[in-house]
Amino acid sequence: MIQPDNFACHNIHMETERLKLRPFKDGDFDIAVPFYKDPEFLNAIEESPPDEPVSKEYLKKAGKFMRDSGFLFAIVEKASGRTIGEVCLQWMNLERAKIAGEKVMRLPIAIWDKTLWGKGYGKEVVRCLMAHAFGKLGIDRFCPVDVPADNIRSIALWRSLGLTVARKADGGKMLDFEITRAEYEKAAQSST
Ligand SMILES: CC(C)(COP(=O)(O)OP(=O)(O)OC[C@H]1O[C@@H](n2cnc3c(N)ncnc32)[C@H](O)[C@@H]1OP(=O)(O)O)[C@@H](O)C(=O)NCCC(=O)NCCS
Repeated sequence: MIQPDNFACHNIHMETERLKLRPFKDGDFDIAVPFYKDPEFLNAIEESPPDEPVSKEYLKKAGKFMRDSGFLFAIVEKASGRTIGEVCLQWMNLERAKIAGEKVMRLPIAIWDKTLWGKGYGKEVVRCLMAHAFGKLGIDRFCPVDVPADNIRSIALWRSLGLTVARKADGGKMLDFEITRAEYEKAAQSST
């Protein structure tokens, strides 16, 4: 049963060593808003500045889009109990990255609090969701798309997990990464 404050409309809970992933709640938008006003954070995630002030309603619009096409999670730090970010395991909705006959997913992710960047949290989340996507959802290809070419952290994250650039878009301003099921399984085998 879906609780009234369960914005994500799913009941999947996952856990990593230091983090929990739980369905995104309506109240999580209130936590997110102040972080979305930080220019450094905003610059990392938005191609261009938002055309209206970032408010709860603004974030909910994007949130609705994600929850209707995938599984939207809040990222919770176990040690502090704080909700520190959002991530969506989302069915591919970008035409250039769709492949006929293949199940393809993308993964918008944001750790809101920049003091928590570079601590391995992003990698922990992505490892967990890639395992879920390939293992439980049976995807063929995992493709984080529309990564700004100047987002060093995001690029380092995808590369560190064995993903490669599938294509450049928007005159090279955006990068689409990917890993196929065969590549994922090979990497998983060699790490055991
Ligand atoms: C992008 C983001 C999710 C990455 O998560 P993170 O927790 O900061 O990254 P991690 O600490 O897990 O690092 C992952 C890899 O990137 C490397 N890395 C992290 N920050 C780096 C930096 N500033 N420069 C170079 N490499 C870096 C790490 O060393 C690690 O690689 P390794 O395991 O081979 O050592 C996070 O920084 C974030 O939310 N940023 C703001 C929002 C954003 O940019 N989202 C992506 C939009 S496309």
